[in-house]
Amino acid sequence: MSLFKKKPLSHLMSESEDTGHEALKKTLGARSLIALGIGAIIGAGLFVRTAAAAAQNAGPSVTLGFIVAAVGCALAGLCYAELSSSIPISGSAYTYTYATMGEFMAWIIGWDLVLEYAVGAATVGIAWSEYLNNLLVNVLHWKAIPYEYCHSPFEMSTTGIHGIINIPALFIVAMLSLLLIRGTKESAFVNGIIVITKVSIVILIIIFGWTYINPSNHFPYIPAATTYTDHQGLSHNYGGIMGILGAAGVVFFAFIGFDAVSTAAQETKNPKKDMPIGILGSLAICTVLYILFAHVLTGLAPVEFFRTTGKEASVVAAINTFMPGYAWLGKLVTVAILAGFSSVILVMLLGQSRVFYSMSRDGLLPQIFSKVHPKFRTPYKANLIILVLVGAFAAFIPGDVVGDMTSIGTLFAFILVCIAVIILRKTEPDLPRQFKTPFVPVVPILGILVCAAMIFGLGWPNWLRLFGWLAIGFVIYFTYSKKNSKLRQQK
Ligand code: ALA
Repeated sequence: MSLFKKKPLSHLMSESEDTGHEALKKTLGARSLIALGIGAIIGAGLFVRTAAAAAQNAGPSVTLGFIVAAVGCALAGLCYAELSSSIPISGSAYTYTYATMGEFMAWIIGWDLVLEYAVGAATVGIAWSEYLNNLLVNVLHWKAIPYEYCHSPFEMSTTGIHGIINIPALFIVAMLSLLLIRGTKESAFVNGIIVITKVSIVILIIIFGWTYINPSNHFPYIPAATTYTDHQGLSHNYGGIMGILGAAGVVFFAFIGFDAVSTAAQETKNPKKDMPIGILGSLAICTVLYILFAHVLTGLAPVEFFRTTGKEASVVAAINTFMPGYAWLGKLVTVAILAGFSSVILVMLLGQSRVFYSMSRDGLLPQIFSKVHPKFRTPYKANLIILVLVGAFAAFIPGDVVGDMTSIGTLFAFILVCIAVIILRKTEPDLPRQFKTPFVPVVPILGILVCAAMIFGLGWPNWLRLFGWLAIGFVIYFTYSKKNSKLRQQK
């Protein structure tokens, strides 16, 4: 049987109506979906990666990087909205690809989504660890966790101390995995409270920080193209167009999450109407906040600050150093962001378990991943296995590396989603679509080009990591998944 055997849409739809004991509960509406989206979107991308992109890639022109990333996300978001409103099934890009490009491509995308969700959750766990240290030192006035116990073995401090393991990152991932096992509805409620807090502190920083912008920090707005080598000896393209594209790839991380909304389609009461609202609504709100926030942050402190003393917990470090009288805001941000990061990790872990759930129901992964808890009705065994995977990344890999791996993996998934829209319009022209992507194929093609430009900006070490990851995926597909695929066994 062909590697490109497609899953029939009628088959997918009947699965979504499955009310058997293994089906997921339908509890989410449009508002909870927007909350789910913002809960996943605002996090480490804004509070950690913005400063990193300014320091290593673009200086103040990181705001232009945000605009490029937002354009790419909006174009891909329009494609996501069409697919999730016409194929409202758990599994997101994986499911769409199965229906349009066949099993092999679906496997690739499912495997690639591990980079987005599992590795993304690890990235935010590592950011959580930075801000926890900030809480201990600046809010509670206790001692910091020693460098070696909150950093990866591949990291070294500016004073030459080597990391061993990131214990706080591992801890938060474990706690949230257990919360997820309790159930989506309970998790969505906690998420709603956190989202309100998170949006409020971003707005407070923009308003109060605006008056402390030092115009000289914004000059030159686009630094001249050069190479910046950090204290660990890694070099980055800094300034010019490549700097902006590199920054776009890095801060693209900040937008990841709006697509996670689509992974909850099977748990949504009215997916055809609510999905597009959830996806595009959360993306629009965050884009406006991000551009204003990045303008304020790069106006507060010079780039050199984000390369040295302000490298960790960067936003609070900048507030404490450059906004005299606003120590209270720094403290508030620290507490709120710890909760904020938790909600991001929660949605990413949720997305990951739902993708594994769908892949396992198709036989591409072992059945253990779709085993639903008899009482909580959640895929609890998948959650536990994901905990081990995400925990390992969080404990032992540096934040910059996992962050960029997340970005490149997600950009690749977005490209496939854009392609899927074009294919589905041809193969299933009569499929009812509650939301239609405008100007097909122009919008999907532009989405592909902008996402590809960001992949280009992320540089060859990240291209290699993506290829390496996909190579592992090929081995698993040809040794396990191809033999166990349910679609193959039916015919
Ligand atoms: N967008 C999410 C964040 O920035 C992943 O943390």
